[in-house]
Amino acid sequence: MITVDKLTKQFGPFTAVDDLSFTVNPGEVLGFLGPNGAGKSTTMKMITGFLAPSSGQVTVYGHNTLDDSLKAREIMGYLPEGAPSYGDMTPLKFLRFIAEVRGFRGKELTRRVQTVVDALQLTSVLNQTIDTLSKGFKRRVGLAQAIIHDPKVLVLDEPTDGLDPNQKHEVRKLIQNLSKDKIVIISTHILEEVTAVCTRAMIIAGGKLLVDDTPQALEARSRFHGAIRLTLTHAGGALEQLQALDGVKSVESSGNGLSLIIFPETGASLFLPINDLLQKNNWEVHEFHVEKGKLDDVFRAITSGGDINE
Ligand SMILES: Nc1ncnc2c1ncn2[C@@H]1O[C@H](COP(=O)(O)OP(=O)(O)OP(=O)(O)O)[C@@H](O)[C@H]1O
Ligand SMILES: [Mg+2]
Repeated sequence: MITVDKLTKQFGPFTAVDDLSFTVNPGEVLGFLGPNGAGKSTTMKMITGFLAPSSGQVTVYGHNTLDDSLKAREIMGYLPEGAPSYGDMTPLKFLRFIAEVRGFRGKELTRRVQTVVDALQLTSVLNQTIDTLSKGFKRRVGLAQAIIHDPKVLVLDEPTDGLDPNQKHEVRKLIQNLSKDKIVIISTHILEEVTAVCTRAMIIAGGKLLVDDTPQALEARSRFHGAIRLTLTHAGGALEQLQALDGVKSVESSGNGLSLIIFPETGASLFLPINDLLQKNNWEVHEFHVEKGKLDDVFRAITSGGDINE
């Protein structure tokens, strides 16, 4: 497992990472969320031993990233911010080079390279210099080098940034398939990605850990959690009847009163009572579903110091 203990990074008088402590266990996919400049990349750089902490420490499966750095790095794969690599190499040369650095030789080296080339669909660009690749392909090369040695720990800084929707889907699938016995730490600004791949989410702002919870529990903090979204073809009297229903806290309407969001009182479940009301009145329904909650609302409220219920 990974243990992060009172991790702090100062750049001159500025504190970029402020006393972070947490542990991550195998099988967990941890997502770092936070505004620009929150300290996510700096934390990842310290976890991977790329940057020395000002104070505090990180151990990866018992290896301290400062005084046992090589052992710690052997079992980690890292996609740094911006996916830097050697621009004048081709992906094939670069990946063969990385595989060699990771200690593979001969047939095993070739097999490793082929596996990641297939996983990241790099065949069409294998012999073009990395400098001339599109942004998304550069990132895919960066991901390929991070997983080439099948590491126990993967640290991926914005892994799907710049990828097209098909590749985003592929990379998320890849992370999900990888994660069974591994520790995966990703950072992202795409909140739906957190719900899609992470088992745990941390919101960081100003270098401090604000929230550490499951994505589902975070969504449940949204004011939309448990609300019913309803679109009718005729509005006649619906708003009044819904407002009068037991367990309804409030109803918001738009689109000539045809689109409704019905908010429950705390703990109330509105699906069945509203369903009954719809049938009783024989209202024609376009849309009817229960909201899980909006992670972006929760994120904004937490990182701007506001109220989730606003
Ligand atoms: N080498 C450095 N020298 C001085 N300040 C730095 C250095 N590296 C990072 N910082 C500062 O530390 C803070 C945290 O930066 P970091 O890159 O970790 O943020 P982030 O959460 O990854 O943001 P983003 O979402 O934009 O990627 C920022 O204010 C940044 O300017
Ligand atoms: Mg960053």
